[in-house]
Amino acid sequence: MRSERKMITAALPYANGPVHIGHLAGVYIPADVYARFQRRSGKDVAFICGSDEHGIPITIRAKKEGVTPQNIVDKYHEIIKKSFADLGISFDEYSRTTSTKHHEVSQDFFKTLYNKGKFTEEVSEQYFDEQAGEFLADRYIVGTCPNCGNDGAYGDQCEKCGTTLSPSELLNPKSMLSGNVPVLKETKNWYLPLNDYEDFLNEWIIEGHKDDWKPNVYGQVKSWLNDGLKPRAMTRDLNWGVPVPLPDAEGKVLYVWFDAPIGYISFTQEWAEKNGKNWKDYWQNENSDLIHFIGKDNIVFHCIIFPAMMKAHGEYMMPTNVPAFEFLNLENDKISTSRNWAVWAHEYVEEFPGQQDVLRYTLLASAPETKDNNFTWKDFQTKNNSELVGIFGNFINRVAVLIHKYYDGVVPQGDENAPELLEIKKAANEIENFLEHFEFRNALSSMMNLARFGNQFLQIEEPWKTIKDNPEKAANSLFIAAQIAAGLAQISEPFMPFSSEKLLKMFNISQLSWKEIESEKILIKTGHQINPAELLFSKIEDETIEFQIQKLENTKQSNKKTNLKASPMKDEIQFDDFTKIDLRTATILTAEKVEKADKLLKFTVDTGVDVRTVVSGVAESFTPEECIGKQVMILLNLAPRKIRGIESQGMLLLTTKPDGKLAFVTPDETVENGVEIG
Ligand code: 2FM
Ligand code: ZN
Repeated sequence: MRSERKMITAALPYANGPVHIGHLAGVYIPADVYARFQRRSGKDVAFICGSDEHGIPITIRAKKEGVTPQNIVDKYHEIIKKSFADLGISFDEYSRTTSTKHHEVSQDFFKTLYNKGKFTEEVSEQYFDEQAGEFLADRYIVGTCPNCGNDGAYGDQCEKCGTTLSPSELLNPKSMLSGNVPVLKETKNWYLPLNDYEDFLNEWIIEGHKDDWKPNVYGQVKSWLNDGLKPRAMTRDLNWGVPVPLPDAEGKVLYVWFDAPIGYISFTQEWAEKNGKNWKDYWQNENSDLIHFIGKDNIVFHCIIFPAMMKAHGEYMMPTNVPAFEFLNLENDKISTSRNWAVWAHEYVEEFPGQQDVLRYTLLASAPETKDNNFTWKDFQTKNNSELVGIFGNFINRVAVLIHKYYDGVVPQGDENAPELLEIKKAANEIENFLEHFEFRNALSSMMNLARFGNQFLQIEEPWKTIKDNPEKAANSLFIAAQIAAGLAQISEPFMPFSSEKLLKMFNISQLSWKEIESEKILIKTGHQINPAELLFSKIEDETIEFQIQKLENTKQSNKKTNLKASPMKDEIQFDDFTKIDLRTATILTAEKVEKADKLLKFTVDTGVDVRTVVSGVAESFTPEECIGKQVMILLNLAPRKIRGIESQGMLLLTTKPDGKLAFVTPDETVENGVEIG
């Protein structure tokens, strides 16, 4: 279905840090290309985004920096908004979820569902910090990981071994707010019974969108539905967020994933009010396509939870498509805000002034459309130097320079029916087709192929030679080349808006609609005066790239140093506490990998007292062979624990080396097994 109206959303970025190339490649640049293309196709477009300013990521950042959540969101909202504008992301509205309008709209939405009886009320036990007087979000509880023994595991995940946890699984849980042991306390929250929407979701997505949704999106939804949905709490006990608009809900806010997608609606309302539009035309009208651009980690929220919310509300139409992208890695390593392993949008804009289109082009060329992809600075340099400078820029420059040289900048006469002109329509057509199917890399290739064609055409025609003996042929060649250049000026706009604008000025032509590009016989007339050639792209030198690579290298080094920083001393203990610990020397007899657990090895160890099984998260640091025969130290009287179905009896002592790998703690001379340590 193709509608006249396109309601396009891009995932609201959390205002807890700046945006990086992963965000740009996987959401914002493709969304912008799509929105720009739809506008050129004459569609009535609303392209909406804004900062996601609630939720735990914000409060955590505030705590880390010792400021209020409001300070954090004020700071990052401005940085993010400016980066998007600097990179030409053409949002019609970029707002924020702390706006008054957003609070009103999301509270109204909640009340509608509440009044319709769409929620269930459930009382559950949650960890509560008595000193801070607050319920604790999962991230605010730290303790020992039951899987690898890491003391700094969070209530939702152990970052050392990657296991997903729930707070009740943590050993020795402590509140990050006060350091105290939290207590379990009853609390009431409002749940959306997602299970009630399974039939609807199955029919709408599984039966209805098998062929037109991306396989990664369709597959994820299918697997969620196969596993069965459960009621999910739409409110939280927290003091940062949109207050729950009910009398008995003090200290509770809307779940951030309840209010954030409503942001798309409230920001459309803000935009509509300023621009004399009716927001309902975009959200509650069958003639409008709703399209969500997101990263793959957001699929469940946009394909299951938000649709269920809209269905429960009753007045909204469902998204037409949810093109979700995979992730972009940087120099073969996962992009990470906390490790500062990223290329930040605002830094790029400062360090590469006037080169926004180079980033747009390179990120689109390696957009993680169907699988995770990788960005390297070397590749960035190659794409710029050989494709943008060597092909695109070179062609444009030759056309403009030759027309000035031989015809004083006036487009010469040529064959308006030349078959080469069809290449322009072909490129425009292909781009249309690819973009309608969210194939951004293919669309970009179609643009570049036209530039390639132009270059080859000039190379074959050699007007700089024919001008002497066959001036008519030279004129025809440059007439055709001028059409191709004008075509590039037109079709490059969704991808490289800054260069397209320069090109339109250079050829002194105005922007056409996509239909006009496809239907007009010629794009620049004989006798038309063009402006002098302007440099579009310039070569990026090795030093520039080396500087960027060095910057990343420095990050790596400083991460290592930070990781090496000794953690603060734990609470004091008495000698009696120490004597409870039974540490012994032991020898590893056998070692083997644990099936389906990349990080675990299963050992049998001779403890001098007995021979027992111990499971340990060391597989990334040692092969099983390296461990066999090693003398180690073991915590003998640790209560046995089941790890991946294997009972682990005790714990081997390990420490971390500067390169992050683990090392066994061993006596400096071999001793008998079972000797006490202390
Ligand atoms: O994952 C994220 O970064 C979220 N802030 C995305 C929110 S999208 C939406 F639903 F608002
Ligand atoms: Zn762990």
